[in-house]
Amino acid sequence: MVLMIICICRRINEEGVRDAVAAGARSPEAVQAFHGCEFNCGKCRCAMGETIAETLDASVTADTLIAAE
Ligand code: FES
Repeated sequence: MVLMIICICRRINEEGVRDAVAAGARSPEAVQAFHGCEFNCGKCRCAMGETIAETLDASVTADTLIAAE
């Protein structure tokens, strides 16, 4: 499985963002804090936000499907 690097400066990949979201992170800043760092260049902010949204959408969909069963 190939994971896309989201933050090159801090070496945070998709799994790292998903782990942070699972721990309660809901913003790019919170993802950085989860990993014990801060933004350097900030160019990853949009991609990180999109990955957070996709992760949350996937969990809501999964929860909704389970609840509907
Ligand atoms: S790519 Fe994330 S701070 Fe630079």
